[in-house]
Amino acid sequence: MHKTGLRVVVTGAGSGLGRELALRYAREGARLALADIQEEGLGETLRLVEAAGGSGFTRRCDVRDYSQLAALAQSCEETMHGIDVLINNAGVASGGWFEDLSLEDWDWQISINLMGVVKGCKAFMPLLLAQQGRIINIASMAALMQAPGMSNYNVAKAGVLALSESLLCELQPKGVQVHVVCPSFFQTNLLNSYRGPDNASKEDIAKLLEGSPISAADIADTIYRESQAGHFLILPHDKGREAWEVKQANPQVIYDEMVRLAEKKMATASR
Ligand SMILES: NC(=O)c1ccc[n+]([C@@H]2O[C@H](COP(=O)([O-])OP(=O)(O)OC[C@H]3O[C@@H](n4cnc5c(N)ncnc54)[C@H](O)[C@@H]3O)[C@@H](O)[C@H]2O)c1
Repeated sequence: MHKTGLRVVVTGAGSGLGRELALRYAREGARLALADIQEEGLGETLRLVEAAGGSGFTRRCDVRDYSQLAALAQSCEETMHGIDVLINNAGVASGGWFEDLSLEDWDWQISINLMGVVKGCKAFMPLLLAQQGRIINIASMAALMQAPGMSNYNVAKAGVLALSESLLCELQPKGVQVHVVCPSFFQTNLLNSYRGPDNASKEDIAKLLEGSPISAADIADTIYRESQAGHFLILPHDKGREAWEVKQANPQVIYDEMVRLAEKKMATASR
C-alpha cells in the first residue's frame, strides 16, 4: 500500500467522527496529533491508530483556550516538523427554543463550535502557510438548513461555513486548501455533551442520530476522498445533498418545511 506519511491534527479525536477520521488517515500511514478534552478516549484512539498502521501522540487540548491550541501547534512543529492537514472537528450538541435558551447557553455553544474552529485555524496558520497544507472544518447540515429548536447550534455551524468560505478565497491563492463538511445526523457520542433548557430536543436528536443510514466511519471515508479530490463543500448524506439542491433552487420550500416541523414539535410538546 502507498503510505502518504501525512501529518494530521484532529481536534475532538477521542470519540465519534474525530476518532474515525484519525483511523482513516492512519490507514494511509499518517502521523497524527490527537487532541481532545477526554484523555481516556484519546488513549483508545491512539491505540487504534497504531493498530491501523499510523503513529502519533495525544494532547489534552480544550479548543476554547487559544494558548492550548498554540501549544499543540508548537508540539507539532517540534515533533513532526509541521503539519499537512488540520481537522477542526471538536464539537458539542445543544438544543431548545430561542425564548428558553440563556445567553450562557449561547456563549458556551459559540465558544466551542464556532470560536474553537476560529482559534484552531489561527493557531495553525503559520504551519499551514509554510507547508501549503489543508484545513478541514467540520460544520453540519445545520449550517445550510436551520431546523427549529437549535438556533445556537445552527448559528455556530453557519459561522463555521462562513469562516471556511472566507478562508477559501484568502488562502487558496497562497496554496492552502480549505474544505467544509456538512453532515446530517449520524450515530456518535455527541449527545453526551448536550446542553439545553429542556430534554425534548435531546430526545428528538437521539432519534435522528439513530436513524442515519451511514456511520461515522463512512463519513470519515467520504471526507478523506473528497478533500483529496479538491472538493470544498462536502455533503456526505444523500438526503442532505438533495435538500440543499432544493433550498438553492427555491429556499421558500425549505422555510415552509421548517415552520411545519416547528408546529409539529410544539404540538407534540403541548400534549
Ligand atoms: N453526530 C452528528 O450527528 C453530527 C452531525 C453533524 C455534525 N457533527 C459534528 O461532528 C463533530 C464531531 O462530533 P461527533 O458527532 O463525533 O461527537 P462526539 O461527542 O462523539 O465527539 C466530539 C468530541 O469533541 C470533544 N470535545 C468537546 N468539547 C471539546 C473542547 N472544548 N475541546 C476539545 N475537544 C472537545 C469531545 O470530548 C468528543 O471527544 C462535531 O463538530 C459535531 O458538531 C456531528
